[in-house]
Amino acid sequence: MKNKTYYIHTFGCQSNKSDSERIAGDYEARGYTEASDWRVCDELIVNTCAIRQRAEDRAKGFLHNVRVHFNEIGKQRPKIILTGCMTHHGNEKLYEMLPIVDEILPINEVGFNTAAIRKDVKHAWIPISTGCNSFCTYCIVPYSRGREQSRDFEAIITEVENLVDRGFEEITLLGMNVNSWGLEKLGIGFRKLMMENKEFTRDDLPDNQSQYLTPTGTPPFVKLLQAISAFEQIKKIRFMTSNPWDFHDELIAEIGRNKKIDRYVHLPIQSGSNAVLYRMNRGYTKERYLEVINKLRAADPDIVVGTDIIVGFAGETEAEFEETVQLSKEIDWKVGFVAIYSPRPGTASFRIYPDDIPHAEKKRRWEVLDQIINKDNFDSRPVVI
Ligand code: 5AD
Ligand code: SF4
Repeated sequence: MKNKTYYIHTFGCQSNKSDSERIAGDYEARGYTEASDWRVCDELIVNTCAIRQRAEDRAKGFLHNVRVHFNEIGKQRPKIILTGCMTHHGNEKLYEMLPIVDEILPINEVGFNTAAIRKDVKHAWIPISTGCNSFCTYCIVPYSRGREQSRDFEAIITEVENLVDRGFEEITLLGMNVNSWGLEKLGIGFRKLMMENKEFTRDDLPDNQSQYLTPTGTPPFVKLLQAISAFEQIKKIRFMTSNPWDFHDELIAEIGRNKKIDRYVHLPIQSGSNAVLYRMNRGYTKERYLEVINKLRAADPDIVVGTDIIVGFAGETEAEFEETVQLSKEIDWKVGFVAIYSPRPGTASFRIYPDDIPHAEKKRRWEVLDQIINKDNFDSRPVVI
C-alpha cells in the first residue's frame, strides 16, 4: 500500500520553521512521506503566524485558496491541521473563523525533542527555549506560545553531538529570549506575570527590568555557547533573538573572544524613546541599549548589530518618533526590521492603549526609518509592513 503523505505550509518566523522540521519528523516517524505540493497530499499542516494582523490574513488567504482549488477540481481535499501562533484564539473561535480546519495542533505539543527533518546538511536550527515571559504589551507571543521554558542542557548537547556526527558545521540557537536561557530556573524576580493580573493599567506594572533574578558567575547562556563551541567540528554559531535586558557583560565578553560566534548580533530595540519603551513594557531604557551596543563594539569592532523597530505604537508622538530617528542615525544598525504597529486582541496594549496613530502616518514613519536604517542594503532589505 502507498504511504500516506503530508505537506507543511509554514508562515512566520524561524521558530515556526524549526517547529515544522519537528512536525515533519513526527509524520515520518509514523510512516508518512512528504508530498511535493499541498495540492497532492493526504494531510496538510498549516503552521501559522499571528504577530501582526497581516500575518493572520495571509493564513486565512491561503486556506481560502485551498478551499477554492479543491472545489474547482471537484476532488476530496486533504485533512487540514492548523498549528502555530494563531492557536492563541482558542479552538472554538478558530473552528468558527476557519471552518475548513479539521484539527488543531497546540504548539506545545510539538515539543523540543522530536527528531527534526532538515533540508540543510551543514546548518541546523536548534530550539533552546520555547514561549516567552516578557509580556511586551504589544506582543501576542506570550499568549500563543505560553510560558518560557528552557530546554535541558543535556538534550541540547546531545542534539549537537548527533548533528556533528552527521557533518553539520553551523548552528543557530533559537528562542524568543535566547540570552535569558536557563534563568527561569533561578526564579522569577520582581516583574510579575501579566497573565495573572487581568485588570490593570500600565501604572500597576513594576518598572522595566528583567523578569528573572540576576545570575551570579557565568550566565547559563554563556556556558551553553562555550559547550557548543568546544565541538571542533562546529565552525559557526548564531543565536536569535536576544533581548537587551539579560545581555550580561559575560555574554558580551564571550562574543568578543569566541570567533565561532557570528559577528552579526540581532538585538531588537523596538523604540528609541524611553516613554514608548515603558508603555511597551520592555525591560530597558535607550541608555541601557546604547551601553550594550557600545560594549559589543568595544569587545570587537567587527561586530555588527541589527534590530527590530515598531513604528506608530499606541500614543507614539511625533517627538517620540523623532527620538527613534535620532537614535537610528547614532547607532547605524546593519539592518532593521521595521514594522507598523498592529494591535493584537488579547494583548495588554490592545486593552489599555487606543491605537490612535492613523495608518497613513504609521506608513510615513515606516518609510522614514526604513530609508535611514536600510539605506546600505536597500534592495535586499527586509520588508515587514
Ligand atoms: N505589531 C507590530 N509589530 C510587532 N512585533 C511584535 N508584535 C507586533 C505588533 N503587535 C514585531 C516586533 C518583534 C518582531 C518579531 O515583530 O518588532 O521584534
Ligand atoms: Fe514578544 Fe517581547 Fe516576548 Fe519578544 S520578548 S516574543 S517581543 S513578548
